[in-house]
Amino acid sequence: MAIKHFLQFKDLARDELEHVFARALWIKNQFKSYQQYWPLSDRTLVMIFEKASTRTRLSFEAGIQQLGGSAIYLNTRDSQLGRGEPVEDAAQVISRMSDIVMIRTFEQEIIERFAANSRVPVINGLTNEYHPCQILADILTFIEHRGPIQGKTVAWIGDSNNVCNTWLQAAEVLDFNVHVSTPPGYEVEPERAGLYGHAHYEEFADPMEAARDADMVTTDVWTSMGFEAENEERMRDFADWQVDADMMRIAKPDSLFMHCLPAHRGEEVAAEVIDGPHSVVWDEAENRLHVQKALMEYLLLGYVSA
Ligand code: CP
Ligand code: NVA
Repeated sequence: MAIKHFLQFKDLARDELEHVFARALWIKNQFKSYQQYWPLSDRTLVMIFEKASTRTRLSFEAGIQQLGGSAIYLNTRDSQLGRGEPVEDAAQVISRMSDIVMIRTFEQEIIERFAANSRVPVINGLTNEYHPCQILADILTFIEHRGPIQGKTVAWIGDSNNVCNTWLQAAEVLDFNVHVSTPPGYEVEPERAGLYGHAHYEEFADPMEAARDADMVTTDVWTSMGFEAENEERMRDFADWQVDADMMRIAKPDSLFMHCLPAHRGEEVAAEVIDGPHSVVWDEAENRLHVQKALMEYLLLGYVSA
């Protein structure tokens, strides 16, 4: 059987995603009922971090342990990865000593080169271009609160970054719509986002118009990791792209607010929104754990039924 990687959202087809969401809900329920479930006993996950993380490390490390396996953490600072060993060589070695690999790095090309030389499945734990595990968790959270996302409208306010690109891919695979509003100069780049076309998203100059009647409003930091040198300029350019209470009022009355976290209150989101009644950010963060357990189960064991 060919190795299955999860390097970008569209690497999984709709039926595979629906399976992963259903398994995530089942695995979550087992976990919440203190039912031991160890389908990955003796399996080892290697986690490679070239950028900082709280949620991604925690959810993958806790997740593999809860499935009976174990995790090894590597970062650029303490391994040969930061000293110029070719990524192809690292992939050959790491994948001979482990069963599955998660990587957080800079360019998407790095993870693709790793995967091309890996004997085991590789998961994207965030690159400059994509953050597919985040959107798995976000959509699971939407499903739990509101049911299927098909046909719904998600408003993306802010930077057309890795998280935005992944929402756009997800809209194509799962057939929903994204209303995007970015400041001038920060627009979506369809090719970089890996899109098939324009059918599932619309761009709005005015963020309020993007949020109008949306089923969900979401945003992310104005400056992503790796782009710190642009921070000052971005603070000026994004000043009018804060998700605030007025913006939530123009969305549907039962709209959800999501943010991948970490958040900056008073920048991309007002405190009263992220800490307010529409916000599901803590469920969203928790769902990283459950959905990634389902993802690892699927990549390693294929279609498992309860
Ligand atoms: N949302 C997310 O990926 O968080 P971390 O950077 O803490 O992993
Ligand atoms: N867009 C952010 C997401 C962090 C989880 C970044 O890349 O820094």
